[in-house]
Amino acid sequence: MDRKEAEKKIQELRAVLWENSRRYYVENSPVIGDYEYDHLMYQLRDLENEWPDLITPDSPTQRVGSDLASDYDRSGEEAGSDSRFPKVQHRYPMLSLSNTYSIEDVEEFASRAEKALDHDFTWCCELKFDGTGISLTYVDGILVKALTRGDGTTGDDVTVNVRRISNIPQKLIGGGWPHEFEIRGEILMPFKAFDALNEERKKDDEPLFANPRNAASGSLKLLDPDEVGRRGLWCTLYHIPSQFIDFATTHSGALDKASSWGLPISTDRRICKGINEIEEYLKHWDAARKDLPYPTDGVVIKIDSLASQEELGYTAKFPRWAVAYKFKAEQAVSEVLSIDYQVGRTGAVTPVANLSPVPLAGTIVKRATLNNEEWMRLLDIRIGDRVFVEKGGEIIPKIVSVDLSGRPAGAVVPEFPTVCPDCGTPLVKSEEEARWFCTNSDGCPTQIKGRLVHFLSRKAMNVIAGDATIDQLFNLGLVRTPADFYSLTKPQLLMLDGWKDRSAERFLQSLAASRKVSFDHVLFALGIRYVGEQTAKEVARHFSDIDTLASAPVEELLQVPDVGEVIARSIFSFFRDEKVLADISRLKAAGLQFSLGKASEKNSDALAGKTIVVSGTFSISRDEIKALIEANGGKNSSSVSGKTDFLLAGTKPGPEKVKKASELGVAVIDENEFFAMIPSVPVKTEEGNHVRGREETEPTLF
Ligand code: IVH
Repeated sequence: MDRKEAEKKIQELRAVLWENSRRYYVENSPVIGDYEYDHLMYQLRDLENEWPDLITPDSPTQRVGSDLASDYDRSGEEAGSDSRFPKVQHRYPMLSLSNTYSIEDVEEFASRAEKALDHDFTWCCELKFDGTGISLTYVDGILVKALTRGDGTTGDDVTVNVRRISNIPQKLIGGGWPHEFEIRGEILMPFKAFDALNEERKKDDEPLFANPRNAASGSLKLLDPDEVGRRGLWCTLYHIPSQFIDFATTHSGALDKASSWGLPISTDRRICKGINEIEEYLKHWDAARKDLPYPTDGVVIKIDSLASQEELGYTAKFPRWAVAYKFKAEQAVSEVLSIDYQVGRTGAVTPVANLSPVPLAGTIVKRATLNNEEWMRLLDIRIGDRVFVEKGGEIIPKIVSVDLSGRPAGAVVPEFPTVCPDCGTPLVKSEEEARWFCTNSDGCPTQIKGRLVHFLSRKAMNVIAGDATIDQLFNLGLVRTPADFYSLTKPQLLMLDGWKDRSAERFLQSLAASRKVSFDHVLFALGIRYVGEQTAKEVARHFSDIDTLASAPVEELLQVPDVGEVIARSIFSFFRDEKVLADISRLKAAGLQFSLGKASEKNSDALAGKTIVVSGTFSISRDEIKALIEANGGKNSSSVSGKTDFLLAGTKPGPEKVKKASELGVAVIDENEFFAMIPSVPVKTEEGNHVRGREETEPTLF
């Protein structure tokens, strides 16, 4: 491979690794598994070793993965949710471990350590807990700080949330601990809590978590500590940085001491002498872990003596005295029948393989994502190939490798389309992403429909409409752009298959209610590339109204927290499109909110000290109801407990919530009762300004 080819390959590998890292740590939805990730990382490392001048400080080989959303800004998509937590630097970096996948790899690691140390030593084998990393600081035996791993150097300060995890002591017992020390471990969600959480979310029609790890990391970063407390999170600790240890000479001795202080430490570790005992431990837990109440994904093998650990030291990313052995994820073998190329609302084209149906971890898998053209090339996939499919706890199965040795003679090299499979427009590759895009955003039916679906979706305009309805509205030529929804009439809606008076009226009512959806949601609904829900909130807060935003130069957009070059340029060019501006004018005329009301500012103390759970649908969006609660001094909570004052129930409230409220004697109120509790606020409706809420002589305006 010459330098030019190496450079191209390096860039390709970095893009895939970068994107997956972001998905893993920030979105909690990786598209490739740890095994493939490491495999690609090895390829990148080999190439960088060969061409050291091509190494850049931001290469994935030089950094540990980060759970800080802002670290992925340049890879596009939504960034910034982490501005919700203060950033705090770790006193000592929080490193990760190098992974191995076979006994042979572990043997190789062990014999390297044996050679380097030239004296006898023992290993401490532990379970590898599958949650999200945490670092706790105790000063004089009191918990003072809890940080996520973040990028390894700086983490999110989640102390308020960690205080709600029941097995983490606020105060140590016994004595003999250092004046100040850090102890690290994992926040986990036990299977039982995970099942209960998803069960409740299913009943309340909320999106499910794909696996306990995602649920744990998502829950740890919730804004409501009470809700964190209810999620049933659990902690296990396994590492004290040696700088804090003057009370033990071995890792296991330090953990024993920590356990005697009341800290949660697993007892499932074992001191092993030599590779045979390590192997026994690995084999035992590969089977026995299925009976554990919490998720594990491997074993960690550490040198027990702290002096020997110090002798071996660290690479830039990993300790040389420890290694992780990953259990194999459940896999299935199938055959690639064909490959579909799906177009999304942004025009991105995603390859999806159709497979011969195969059972895998409880379901029959027929399709698996191939992510993008780069991933297809890295796999070197052909139609007809035997492939290994994994779920790895994620919802969408993925193809993790190809059985190259068993490749049938006629296997066909798939051709990534050069034109949009839907509208025939030539595809272009974006500079920022390893994906191909259809640029015909105004004419490509799939993109148009995708945008319409997004516009009405729950977190956007919250209008109840299925994809099939939108399909029909599009096919009948009634809707092309979001503004068209607001000109729909009842006779037009009655043209839809199976629609009667009642369904048409409900749809029109839902559309009317959407006129009150707040500016940040409207901004999100517009579907500006890379502007997710959180970014939309930040942008709305910064600019207050659409006209100021639409005329803002890139430099001004860059002032918004967590908006980097990619997002700023995307917003800037969005508002330079005449058709977009014309549609926004029509939406304005239809009465949508294009400026920030003062809902977020305090309106009254009418609900001070009251904790309210909102469930069901209302005449205005649930988020607006929640904003009104906060504006009037109340507190929102997402599940009913003894501390709840009211369950505010709209149409179809979550049955579990209603049941719990009645069990606990929590008062259930409806929308009208709620509005009667707060000072009146003018709410714009299609018939003009109405006043909602309790009438006052001097109504507070917002
Ligand atoms: S030791 C300096 N021990 O796995 C080494 N890590 O892939 C500190 N993990 O970042 C880590 N169980 O979040 C260690 N028994 C265990 C572990 C463990 C899970 C996590 C940890 C780490 C990751 C590495």
